[in-house]
Amino acid sequence: MKNRNLLLMLLVVGCAVAFIAATSMAAGMPDVVKVYSPYKLKKGVVQFTHKKHVEEHKVACGECHHDDQGKPRNDLKEGDTVKKCFDCHNKPGELKGKKAKGKSKKEKLAYHANALHKNCIGCHKAYNKKNKTKAAPQKCSACHPKKKKK
Ligand code: HEC
Ligand code: HEC
Ligand code: HEC
Ligand code: HEC
Repeated sequence: MKNRNLLLMLLVVGCAVAFIAATSMAAGMPDVVKVYSPYKLKKGVVQFTHKKHVEEHKVACGECHHDDQGKPRNDLKEGDTVKKCFDCHNKPGELKGKKAKGKSKKEKLAYHANALHKNCIGCHKAYNKKNKTKAAPQKCSACHPKKKKK
């Protein structure tokens, strides 16, 4: 008798866990997304408030996600899967300063951090200018929190 109750309880708990897992997967919209970067970061990991950008800042999926032609993916729905930026913008790090001199827009965009910076900071700059504010972060430290000293 005792054993059967225990089994039943385990079954109920199991179902609840499966249900929660399924619903949160369907929601598919993680709060904070760690932008995939396969290389050793010099800067701290960027905190990117994915959900807030969609829900509070009202940014459309296609402002950031696009297809292999660079065409905005405004057909995206919550729960869809997307490619990592690094799948296409697949040179590690940032090309800037002397090294970037004479390089075409396309060559620069191949670098992961150039593409991300263009997307993130590009919009923030335009937004701040338009709304006469500094609310959208442009400073390095706002997106790259200082690494803890060892
Ligand atoms: C402001 C830019 C931005 C907007 C708007 C945006 N995303 Fe994203 N999203 C990103 C970035 C950056 C990543 C991380 C990609 C990477 O790791 O290379 C990401 C990751 C994802 C992931 C993968 C999550 C994970 O944990 O790996 C999914 C799924 C996704 N986005 C779906 C969406 C959908 C659906 C919308 C619209 C409702 C949307 N995104 C709107 C920038 C954005
Ligand atoms: C499936 C491949 C693919 C993925 C995944 C991808 N990109 Fe792109 N991206 C492209 C192509 C192709 C272009 C157009 C390149 C050109 O104009 O020469 C582009 C262009 C861009 C541009 C330039 C847009 C402009 O206004 O000139 C930015 C910025 C950018 N991508 C950022 C991102 C970010 C951020 C992510 C991840 C959220 C991402 N890309 C994911 C292929 C991709
Ligand atoms: C198309 C526009 C757009 C793009 C692209 C975009 N942002 Fe934002 N971001 C905003 C706006 C709007 C705010 C809110 C400003 C305010 O509070 O008034 C914001 C705010 C933020 C904040 C402050 C915390 C918060 O969520 O309010 C961080 C951090 C941030 N963005 C990081 C990023 C990163 C990292 C990327 C690139 C992966 C990115 N953003 C791309 C529009 C954008
Ligand atoms: C709006 C947010 C944002 C701002 C502002 C910003 N970055 Fe980034 N940065 C990113 C994102 C997103 C990536 C790509 C994801 C990653 O590599 O963690 C990145 C990547 C990098 C990288 C390559 C990865 C590494 O750690 O080696 C460097 C270097 C970098 N940023 C330097 C800077 C510097 C310097 C500034 C100020 C001039 C700056 N960033 C401002 C969002 C930002």
